[in-house]
Amino acid sequence: MTWMLTGGAGYIGGHVARALRAAGHDLVVIDDLSTGIAERVQGLHLVEASLLDGPSRLAAVLTEHEVSGIVHLAAKKAVPESVDRPLYYYEQNVTGTIALLRAAVQAGVHHILYSSSAAVYGETAAGRIDEGHPTSPTNPYGETKLAAEWLVRRTAEAHGMSWTALRYFNVAGAADARLADRGVFNLLPIVLRRVDEGRPVSVFGGDWPTPDGSCVRDYVHVEDVADAHRAAVDALDAEQLRAGIFNVGRGEGVSVLELLSVVERTVGRPVARQIVARRRGDPAIVVADVSAIAADLRWTAARDIHDIVTSAWQARRSSLDG
Ligand code: WQD
Repeated sequence: MTWMLTGGAGYIGGHVARALRAAGHDLVVIDDLSTGIAERVQGLHLVEASLLDGPSRLAAVLTEHEVSGIVHLAAKKAVPESVDRPLYYYEQNVTGTIALLRAAVQAGVHHILYSSSAAVYGETAAGRIDEGHPTSPTNPYGETKLAAEWLVRRTAEAHGMSWTALRYFNVAGAADARLADRGVFNLLPIVLRRVDEGRPVSVFGGDWPTPDGSCVRDYVHVEDVADAHRAAVDALDAEQLRAGIFNVGRGEGVSVLELLSVVERTVGRPVARQIVARRRGDPAIVVADVSAIAADLRWTAARDIHDIVTSAWQARRSSLDG
Protein backbone atom coordinates (compact mmCIF):
# COMPACT_ATOMS: atom_id res chain seq x y z
CA MET A 1 0.00 0.00 0.00
CA THR A 2 1.38 3.40 -0.95
CA TRP A 3 1.41 6.40 1.39
CA MET A 4 1.60 10.00 0.24
CA LEU A 5 3.56 12.51 2.33
CA THR A 6 2.50 16.11 1.80
CA GLY A 7 5.37 18.38 2.80
CA GLY A 8 7.62 15.34 2.73
CA ALA A 9 10.66 17.40 1.68
CA GLY A 10 10.47 19.48 4.85
CA TYR A 11 12.50 19.18 8.05
CA ILE A 12 10.05 16.86 9.82
CA GLY A 13 8.75 15.42 6.53
CA GLY A 14 12.23 14.31 5.48
CA HIS A 15 12.69 12.46 8.77
CA VAL A 16 9.23 10.87 8.49
CA ALA A 17 9.98 9.74 4.92
CA ARG A 18 13.25 8.19 6.15
CA ALA A 19 11.47 6.30 8.95
CA LEU A 20 8.59 5.03 6.79
CA ARG A 21 10.97 3.97 4.02
CA ALA A 22 13.07 2.04 6.56
CA ALA A 23 9.87 0.34 7.74
CA GLY A 24 9.23 -0.85 4.17
CA HIS A 25 6.40 1.47 3.16
CA ASP A 26 6.01 2.58 -0.48
CA LEU A 27 5.95 6.37 -0.57
CA VAL A 28 5.21 9.25 -2.88
CA VAL A 29 6.03 12.81 -1.79
CA ILE A 30 4.23 15.98 -2.78
CA ASP A 31 5.89 19.27 -1.88
CA ASP A 32 5.85 22.77 -3.38
CA LEU A 33 9.53 23.18 -2.36
CA SER A 34 8.77 26.66 -1.00
CA THR A 35 10.67 25.62 2.13
CA GLY A 36 11.19 21.92 1.40
CA ILE A 37 14.46 20.64 -0.07
CA ALA A 38 14.38 17.92 -2.75
CA GLU A 39 17.65 16.30 -1.62
CA ARG A 40 15.94 15.30 1.65
CA VAL A 41 13.87 12.75 -0.29
CA GLN A 42 16.46 11.45 -2.75
CA GLY A 43 15.32 8.17 -4.29
CA LEU A 44 11.64 8.80 -3.65
CA HIS A 45 9.06 9.86 -6.21
CA LEU A 46 8.66 13.60 -5.66
CA VAL A 47 5.73 15.52 -7.16
CA GLU A 48 6.53 19.24 -7.08
CA ALA A 49 3.09 20.78 -6.57
CA SER A 50 1.07 22.85 -4.13
CA LEU A 51 -2.08 21.67 -2.37
CA LEU A 52 -3.56 24.89 -3.71
CA ASP A 53 -3.17 23.60 -7.28
CA GLY A 54 -6.68 22.22 -6.70
CA PRO A 55 -8.37 18.91 -5.86
CA SER A 56 -8.42 17.51 -9.39
CA ARG A 57 -4.61 17.69 -9.76
CA LEU A 58 -4.20 16.15 -6.32
CA ALA A 59 -6.77 13.43 -7.00
CA ALA A 60 -4.96 12.52 -10.22
CA VAL A 61 -1.70 12.04 -8.28
CA LEU A 62 -3.44 10.00 -5.58
CA THR A 63 -5.12 7.77 -8.17
CA GLU A 64 -2.02 7.38 -10.34
CA HIS A 65 0.00 6.12 -7.36
CA GLU A 66 -2.88 4.09 -5.84
CA VAL A 67 -2.42 5.93 -2.55
CA SER A 68 -4.15 4.23 0.40
CA GLY A 69 -3.05 6.68 3.10
CA ILE A 70 -1.88 10.28 3.44
CA VAL A 71 0.54 11.74 5.99
CA HIS A 72 -0.35 15.44 5.86
CA LEU A 73 2.66 17.46 7.01
CA ALA A 74 2.53 20.39 4.57
CA ALA A 75 1.96 23.64 6.46
CA LYS A 76 3.48 27.01 7.26
CA LYS A 77 4.64 26.97 10.90
CA ALA A 78 6.29 30.24 11.93
CA VAL A 79 4.19 31.62 14.77
CA PRO A 80 5.30 35.28 14.49
CA GLU A 81 4.73 35.21 10.72
CA SER A 82 1.23 33.81 11.27
CA VAL A 83 0.40 36.84 13.41
CA ASP A 84 1.54 39.20 10.64
CA ARG A 85 -0.02 37.18 7.77
CA PRO A 86 -3.18 35.41 9.06
CA LEU A 87 -4.88 35.13 5.66
CA TYR A 88 -1.78 33.53 4.14
CA TYR A 89 -1.67 31.02 7.02
CA TYR A 90 -5.37 30.17 6.78
CA GLU A 91 -5.07 29.79 3.01
CA GLN A 92 -1.99 27.56 3.19
CA ASN A 93 -2.90 25.47 6.23
CA VAL A 94 -6.71 25.34 6.06
CA THR A 95 -7.70 25.85 2.41
CA GLY A 96 -4.83 23.56 1.44
CA THR A 97 -6.17 20.89 3.79
CA ILE A 98 -9.67 21.23 2.31
CA ALA A 99 -8.30 20.71 -1.21
CA LEU A 100 -6.33 17.67 -0.05
CA LEU A 101 -9.33 16.12 1.71
CA ARG A 102 -11.58 16.68 -1.31
CA ALA A 103 -9.01 14.89 -3.46
CA ALA A 104 -8.66 12.09 -0.90
CA VAL A 105 -12.42 11.46 -0.92
CA GLN A 106 -12.48 11.56 -4.72
CA ALA A 107 -9.59 9.07 -4.96
CA GLY A 108 -10.94 6.71 -2.28
CA VAL A 109 -8.05 7.14 0.19
CA HIS A 110 -8.56 5.07 3.36
CA HIS A 111 -6.32 6.69 6.02
CA ILE A 112 -5.34 10.21 7.03
CA LEU A 113 -2.51 10.98 9.49
CA TYR A 114 -2.49 14.70 10.27
CA SER A 115 0.58 16.56 11.55
CA SER A 116 -0.81 18.78 14.30
CA SER A 117 0.82 20.78 17.07
CA ALA A 118 0.84 21.56 20.77
CA ALA A 119 0.10 25.10 19.58
CA VAL A 120 -3.59 24.08 19.49
CA TYR A 121 -3.64 24.19 23.31
CA GLY A 122 -2.63 27.85 23.66
CA GLU A 123 -2.38 28.93 27.30
CA THR A 124 -1.97 25.72 29.29
CA ALA A 125 -2.63 24.74 32.87
CA ALA A 126 0.38 23.85 35.02
CA GLY A 127 1.70 20.31 34.83
CA ARG A 128 1.56 17.81 32.01
CA ILE A 129 -1.30 18.33 29.58
CA ASP A 130 -3.23 15.47 28.00
CA GLU A 131 -5.29 15.40 24.81
CA GLY A 132 -8.40 16.40 26.73
CA HIS A 133 -6.90 19.75 27.73
CA PRO A 134 -8.97 22.67 26.38
CA THR A 135 -7.81 23.92 22.99
CA SER A 136 -7.62 27.70 22.87
CA PRO A 137 -4.85 28.63 20.45
CA THR A 138 -3.34 32.08 20.99
CA ASN A 139 -2.10 32.68 17.43
CA PRO A 140 -3.25 32.09 13.85
CA TYR A 141 -0.76 29.23 13.41
CA GLY A 142 -2.33 27.28 16.27
CA GLU A 143 -5.83 28.15 15.05
CA THR A 144 -5.11 26.75 11.59
CA LYS A 145 -3.73 23.50 13.05
CA LEU A 146 -6.87 23.07 15.16
CA ALA A 147 -9.20 23.90 12.25
CA ALA A 148 -7.41 21.34 10.09
CA GLU A 149 -7.84 18.71 12.85
CA TRP A 150 -11.59 19.34 12.76
CA LEU A 151 -11.63 19.05 8.95
CA VAL A 152 -9.74 15.75 9.02
CA ARG A 153 -11.98 14.29 11.71
CA ARG A 154 -15.29 15.31 10.10
CA THR A 155 -14.21 14.21 6.61
CA ALA A 156 -13.04 10.84 7.92
CA GLU A 157 -16.30 10.33 9.81
CA ALA A 158 -18.41 11.28 6.80
CA HIS A 159 -16.51 9.07 4.35
CA GLY A 160 -15.53 6.03 6.40
CA MET A 161 -11.81 6.80 6.62
CA SER A 162 -9.58 6.07 9.61
CA TRP A 163 -7.61 9.04 10.92
CA THR A 164 -5.25 10.29 13.56
CA ALA A 165 -3.70 13.63 14.51
CA LEU A 166 -0.27 13.84 16.13
CA ARG A 167 0.20 16.98 18.28
CA TYR A 168 3.94 17.62 18.25
CA PHE A 169 5.48 19.50 21.13
CA ASN A 170 8.86 21.20 20.55
CA VAL A 171 10.60 19.25 17.82
CA ALA A 172 14.39 19.61 17.54
CA GLY A 173 17.57 17.75 16.63
CA ALA A 174 18.43 16.03 13.36
CA ALA A 175 19.40 12.64 11.98
CA ASP A 176 22.06 14.27 9.78
CA ALA A 177 22.99 17.53 8.05
CA ARG A 178 20.90 16.78 4.96
CA LEU A 179 17.71 16.48 7.03
CA ALA A 180 18.52 19.20 9.57
CA ASP A 181 16.19 22.13 10.20
CA ARG A 182 17.40 24.96 7.96
CA GLY A 183 14.83 27.37 9.41
CA VAL A 184 15.89 29.58 12.31
CA PHE A 185 12.51 30.11 13.89
CA ASN A 186 12.82 27.95 16.99
CA LEU A 187 14.96 28.15 20.10
CA LEU A 188 17.68 25.55 19.49
CA PRO A 189 18.60 26.60 15.91
CA ILE A 190 18.63 30.22 17.11
CA VAL A 191 20.96 29.39 20.02
CA LEU A 192 23.41 27.39 17.87
CA ARG A 193 23.59 30.18 15.31
CA ARG A 194 24.24 32.74 18.09
CA VAL A 195 27.01 30.51 19.48
CA ASP A 196 28.73 30.51 16.09
CA GLU A 197 28.22 34.26 15.68
CA GLY A 198 29.49 35.00 19.18
CA ARG A 199 26.30 36.93 19.94
CA PRO A 200 24.23 36.62 23.12
CA VAL A 201 21.00 34.64 23.18
CA SER A 202 17.90 36.65 24.12
CA VAL A 203 15.99 34.82 26.84
CA PHE A 204 12.35 35.88 26.62
CA GLY A 205 11.59 36.54 30.25
CA GLY A 206 13.35 35.59 33.49
CA ASP A 207 10.39 36.12 35.82
CA TRP A 208 8.08 33.28 34.80
CA PRO A 209 6.47 31.09 37.53
CA THR A 210 9.02 28.32 36.91
CA PRO A 211 11.95 27.00 38.99
CA ASP A 212 14.58 29.19 37.29
CA GLY A 213 12.23 31.91 35.93
CA SER A 214 12.56 30.95 32.26
CA CYS A 215 9.94 29.21 30.12
CA VAL A 216 9.64 25.44 30.17
CA ARG A 217 8.96 23.32 27.07
CA ASP A 218 8.86 19.64 26.08
CA TYR A 219 11.65 19.13 23.54
CA VAL A 220 11.40 15.93 21.52
CA HIS A 221 13.90 14.54 19.00
CA VAL A 222 12.73 14.70 15.40
CA GLU A 223 13.75 11.07 14.90
CA ASP A 224 11.45 10.06 17.74
CA VAL A 225 8.68 12.13 16.15
CA ALA A 226 9.32 10.32 12.87
CA ASP A 227 9.07 6.97 14.65
CA ALA A 228 5.75 8.05 16.16
CA HIS A 229 4.51 8.48 12.57
CA ARG A 230 5.79 4.97 11.74
CA ALA A 231 3.83 3.57 14.69
CA ALA A 232 0.67 5.43 13.65
CA VAL A 233 0.99 4.40 9.97
CA ASP A 234 1.48 0.76 10.98
CA ALA A 235 -1.62 0.91 13.20
CA LEU A 236 -3.74 2.55 10.48
CA ASP A 237 -2.51 0.10 7.84
CA ALA A 238 -3.35 -2.83 10.12
CA GLU A 239 -6.83 -1.36 10.79
CA GLN A 240 -5.92 -1.24 14.51
CA LEU A 241 -6.63 2.51 14.72
CA ARG A 242 -9.92 4.09 13.63
CA ALA A 243 -9.64 7.53 15.16
CA GLY A 244 -7.47 9.32 17.69
CA ILE A 245 -5.46 12.37 18.71
CA PHE A 246 -2.05 11.88 20.36
CA ASN A 247 0.46 14.16 22.01
CA VAL A 248 4.02 13.57 20.79
CA GLY A 249 6.64 14.65 23.31
CA ARG A 250 8.97 13.31 25.98
CA GLY A 251 6.72 14.23 28.91
CA GLU A 252 9.64 16.08 30.47
CA GLY A 253 10.02 19.86 30.79
CA VAL A 254 13.27 21.69 30.09
CA SER A 255 13.64 25.43 30.71
CA VAL A 256 15.36 27.85 28.36
CA LEU A 257 18.22 28.31 30.83
CA GLU A 258 18.56 24.54 31.29
CA LEU A 259 18.75 24.15 27.51
CA LEU A 260 21.52 26.76 27.38
CA SER A 261 23.45 24.74 29.99
CA VAL A 262 23.14 21.60 27.86
CA VAL A 263 24.36 23.58 24.83
CA GLU A 264 27.38 24.85 26.83
CA ARG A 265 28.35 21.31 27.79
CA THR A 266 27.85 20.13 24.20
CA VAL A 267 29.79 22.85 22.39
CA GLY A 268 32.42 23.21 25.13
CA ARG A 269 32.17 26.96 25.52
CA PRO A 270 29.98 29.44 27.42
CA VAL A 271 26.75 30.65 25.85
CA ALA A 272 26.27 34.38 26.38
CA ARG A 273 22.69 35.34 27.18
CA GLN A 274 20.63 38.39 28.07
CA ILE A 275 17.27 38.27 29.80
CA VAL A 276 14.83 40.41 27.82
CA ALA A 277 11.09 41.08 27.95
CA ARG A 278 8.65 38.20 27.71
CA ARG A 279 7.45 37.33 24.17
CA ARG A 280 3.74 38.03 23.60
CA GLY A 281 1.65 34.85 23.53
CA ASP A 282 4.19 32.63 25.31
CA PRO A 283 2.76 30.29 27.96
CA ALA A 284 5.07 29.61 30.94
CA ILE A 285 5.03 25.83 30.79
CA VAL A 286 4.00 23.44 27.97
CA VAL A 287 4.77 19.78 28.74
CA ALA A 288 2.99 16.74 27.29
CA ASP A 289 1.22 13.90 29.00
CA VAL A 290 2.22 11.11 26.60
CA SER A 291 0.44 8.18 28.25
CA ALA A 292 -2.15 7.85 25.44
CA ILE A 293 0.35 7.27 22.61
CA ALA A 294 2.33 4.91 24.83
CA ALA A 295 -0.79 2.85 25.53
CA ASP A 296 -2.41 2.88 22.08
CA LEU A 297 0.60 2.97 19.75
CA ARG A 298 3.24 1.55 22.11
CA TRP A 299 5.49 4.54 21.37
CA THR A 300 7.71 6.48 23.74
CA ALA A 301 10.59 8.82 22.95
CA ALA A 302 13.97 7.06 23.00
CA ARG A 303 16.24 10.13 22.97
CA ASP A 304 16.85 12.76 25.67
CA ILE A 305 17.72 16.47 25.63
CA HIS A 306 21.45 15.72 25.31
CA ASP A 307 20.80 13.61 22.19
CA ILE A 308 18.69 16.44 20.78
CA VAL A 309 21.32 19.14 21.31
CA THR A 310 24.25 16.95 20.26
CA SER A 311 22.57 15.87 17.03
CA ALA A 312 21.61 19.45 16.15
CA TRP A 313 25.13 20.70 16.84
CA GLN A 314 26.76 17.89 14.84
CA ALA A 315 24.39 18.47 11.90
CA ARG A 316 25.20 22.18 11.97
CA ARG A 317 28.93 21.49 12.03
CA SER A 318 28.66 19.05 9.12
CA SER A 319 26.54 21.50 7.16
CA LEU A 320 28.96 24.39 7.72
CA ASP A 321 31.99 22.18 6.95
CA GLY A 322 30.23 20.81 3.86
C1 WQD B 1 10.69 27.87 22.76
C2 WQD B 1 10.96 28.63 24.05
C3 WQD B 1 10.45 30.97 23.97
C4 WQD B 1 13.63 31.97 21.09
C5 WQD B 1 6.76 26.49 18.77
C6 WQD B 1 5.61 26.80 17.83
C7 WQD B 1 5.46 25.73 16.85
C8 WQD B 1 5.29 24.40 17.54
C9 WQD B 1 5.94 24.35 18.92
C10 WQD B 1 5.22 22.74 15.83
C11 WQD B 1 9.86 29.64 24.37
C12 WQD B 1 11.95 30.74 24.19
C13 WQD B 1 12.77 31.28 21.94
C14 WQD B 1 14.56 32.88 21.64
C15 WQD B 1 13.76 32.38 23.83
N1 WQD B 1 5.94 23.40 16.75
N2 WQD B 1 12.84 31.49 23.29
N3 WQD B 1 14.60 33.05 23.00
O1 WQD B 1 7.06 29.05 20.94
O2 WQD B 1 7.45 26.94 22.34
O3 WQD B 1 6.41 26.79 20.09
O4 WQD B 1 7.10 25.13 18.78
O5 WQD B 1 4.10 22.90 15.60
O6 WQD B 1 6.63 25.78 16.04
O7 WQD B 1 4.40 26.86 18.50
O8 WQD B 1 8.86 27.36 20.34
O9 WQD B 1 11.24 27.53 19.78
O10 WQD B 1 9.76 29.60 19.47
O11 WQD B 1 10.36 28.84 21.77
O12 WQD B 1 13.79 32.57 25.06
O13 WQD B 1 15.38 33.54 20.91
O14 WQD B 1 12.16 29.38 23.92
O15 WQD B 1 10.01 32.03 24.80
O16 WQD B 1 9.65 29.63 25.77
P1 WQD B 1 7.41 27.60 21.02
P2 WQD B 1 10.10 28.37 20.24
